[in-house]
Amino acid sequence: MLKGMDRMKDVEALRSDALRDIAAARDEAALEQARIVWLGRKGPLVDALRGIKDAPAAERRDLGLALNRLRDELESLMTERQAEISERALFARLRGETFDVTLPGRPRAMGGPHPLQLVEDALVDALHALGFHFAEGPEVESEALNFEALNIPADHPAREMHDTFFVQDQPGYVLRTHTSPVQIRAMRKHAPQPVRMITVGRVYRRDDDVTHSPVFHQMEGLAVGEGIGMHHLKGTLYEFCRAIFGEDVRIRLRPSYFPFTEPSAEVDIGCVFCGGEGCRICKGTGFIEILGSGMVHPHVLREGGYDPAVHTGFAFGVGVERIAMLRYGIDDVRLLFQSDLRLLRQF
Ligand code: DAH
Repeated sequence: MLKGMDRMKDVEALRSDALRDIAAARDEAALEQARIVWLGRKGPLVDALRGIKDAPAAERRDLGLALNRLRDELESLMTERQAEISERALFARLRGETFDVTLPGRPRAMGGPHPLQLVEDALVDALHALGFHFAEGPEVESEALNFEALNIPADHPAREMHDTFFVQDQPGYVLRTHTSPVQIRAMRKHAPQPVRMITVGRVYRRDDDVTHSPVFHQMEGLAVGEGIGMHHLKGTLYEFCRAIFGEDVRIRLRPSYFPFTEPSAEVDIGCVFCGGEGCRICKGTGFIEILGSGMVHPHVLREGGYDPAVHTGFAFGVGVERIAMLRYGIDDVRLLFQSDLRLLRQF
């Protein structure tokens, strides 16, 4: 039992031991341990507080004050120590996180243009250089522009159900089956001024096999003005083919039929696979068909707002996938839509 001055001395001793312990606590666990030892229910401080009642009445007040002050002091020291410990832990963690500037960086996978985009850019660039400006039209198009204005009447086979996607909620509208309606849009915008335009975009048909996808891309060109002839068409297409297939490309125009051109021609290039000697891909002919073209039909000129007696024009349409397949030797059109990195990384 504590006695007289001894009691006060013991409070001092208790204080210095507790202070030493708190200062020595290096982490939260050690501090918690000190808290239990010095402030816990079975600790010496609580013991001493309980012992006040056994002290002589004259000493109780001072002893009680001293012990309560000590308890307050220890509690606030522990709170301070706690803050120091967590701050030190934070700095230690931050130090561990500093980065070594000499380490090699983490490589990021670089994206690149899709082969269809590369072909599209090449096609558009080639025609830009010849003075064609870029025009656009919607993918949901009226039947009037997709068909009628292009001289494709209601009984034309291209309008049969198996070719065209119809828009259920909007009678008279289809997913455009080609980029040719943009011809009409461009003419109506510029007539009677001359126009030279190109457009590229998605078109839709109910087709699905190794060479046909229900969604594909076309590029369309149109030139209308006074005195435009077939020689302009041929010269333009020749330049265009050279830009895509190289300076040595050979081209051939073959008579054909399209409702919106008269006369019409299909354009072939010398087979890129056998150099024109004849192979499986060109079916022994030495040529491969790459686009449709012709002189704009008078009906179409009138629909566009031009007078066929004054204005003439030429037009052509190219399948972008087909060009990409020929240019890069891809034999299945579906590869172009599968986003398979093994293919895409090659470009
Ligand atoms: N629109 C045709 C198609 O989708 C392609 C075409 C042929 C476009 C001849 C033309 C053209 O502008 O003159 O098959």
